[in-house]
Amino acid sequence: MKALLTGGAGYIGSHTAVAMLEAGHEVAVVDNYYNSSEEAIRRVEKITGKSVSMYEADVADKSKMKEILAGEMPDCIIHFAGLKAVGESVEKPVEYYRNNIDTTLTLLECMKELGLGNIVFSSSATVYGEDNIPPFTENMPKGSCTNPYGWTKWMQEQILTDAQKASAGDASGGSAGLSVVLLRYFNPVGAHESGLIGEDPKGIPNNLMPYISQVAVGRRDHLTVFGNDYDTPDGTCRRDYIHVMDLAEGHVKAAEYCAAHKGTEVINLGTGEPYSVLDMVKAFGEACGKPVKYEIGPRRAGDVQDSWADADKAKELLGWKASRGIREICRDAWKWQSSNPEGYGK
Ligand code: NAD
Ligand code: WQD
Repeated sequence: MKALLTGGAGYIGSHTAVAMLEAGHEVAVVDNYYNSSEEAIRRVEKITGKSVSMYEADVADKSKMKEILAGEMPDCIIHFAGLKAVGESVEKPVEYYRNNIDTTLTLLECMKELGLGNIVFSSSATVYGEDNIPPFTENMPKGSCTNPYGWTKWMQEQILTDAQKASAGDASGGSAGLSVVLLRYFNPVGAHESGLIGEDPKGIPNNLMPYISQVAVGRRDHLTVFGNDYDTPDGTCRRDYIHVMDLAEGHVKAAEYCAAHKGTEVINLGTGEPYSVLDMVKAFGEACGKPVKYEIGPRRAGDVQDSWADADKAKELLGWKASRGIREICRDAWKWQSSNPEGYGK
């Protein structure tokens, strides 16, 4: 199939591009490089020995998107493009709602006008909110999000679900019978095993794994662990860390499923295994051959104590299951970080 990846130059998109190409699919990417670099796509081509059709555009620019989509006519759109920094979304909610919601609405309008039917969407475990108890299953009611970023995911899920529902009863052509797959990612981490592509956050990382990597490579002095007084075995929060290549392979299966079915499916992409902050610090120290320096600090506002997936639905529906563990995650994150200490910048 031909897949068009919005935000395909970003962290998860670039790894998914590799997995799609390796599975024999064609890939086109649309990105405005707001949080990424064209270099990521050049490296995708280097890893796979295959070429990617690359478009620099804002996905919310309807006339440009319609032109690109009309030229490509993809069998499936995988919609990664979005702003994703939780803390920044609290400071700039309007920018987050504008960008994340507009890109989705624009795609749906273009799809309807061009008769394109299949879309896979990057959602997040954050939509389970604060009150559900893990393991999270897809049929739990969505929760109350703790920040504007989370609400944008919550709302985009709703918009896509409503559009699909309406399309099922619309026999007038256009997007009659949309197929929507909402993928709820847990904590994507790690890098392609080549060390050629990986996560390249701008500025001070907000997320645990890039922060640990930058401490290990000497760019930051130490990690602050946000709280060790939670009700968990070592007092630190637990998460479902999933290797980004497992996640990428999950997208291949999801896109294939999406193109072959109608309706809306919500699917968790996680491992089902929780690890604590200190588990990850220890595993990274073993991977890079020296302990990662850390200090215990106060809790971070908005953090939930525990989050992990029930990963059964992905296995049953897609035949997909994560195969890499935290050893591989830390090994590959370290390979990327140590061979690209400044990310794509140098
Ligand atoms: P990323 O920032 O690396 O990638 C997003 C890409 O979208 C970037 O290349 C950015 O330049 C591009 N982009 C943003 N707005 C755009 C626009 N209007 N037009 C064109 N391009 C635009 O982030 P990522 O970690 O690869 O995340 C991909 C998707 O997965 C996002 O939607 C994110 O919210 C979601 N997600 C990420 C995580 C995570 O922890 N990384 C977890 C759950 C969900
Ligand atoms: C993991 C654990 C922190 C940094 C976020 C978003 C979520 C999703 C994935 C997009 C937590 C602890 C972290 C640090 C620390 N993104 N930590 N010191 O918060 O689970 O999820 O990214 O959808 O929506 O909220 O991930 O990597 O920020 O934190 O102790 O410097 O590491 O408290 O327990 P999180 P994270």
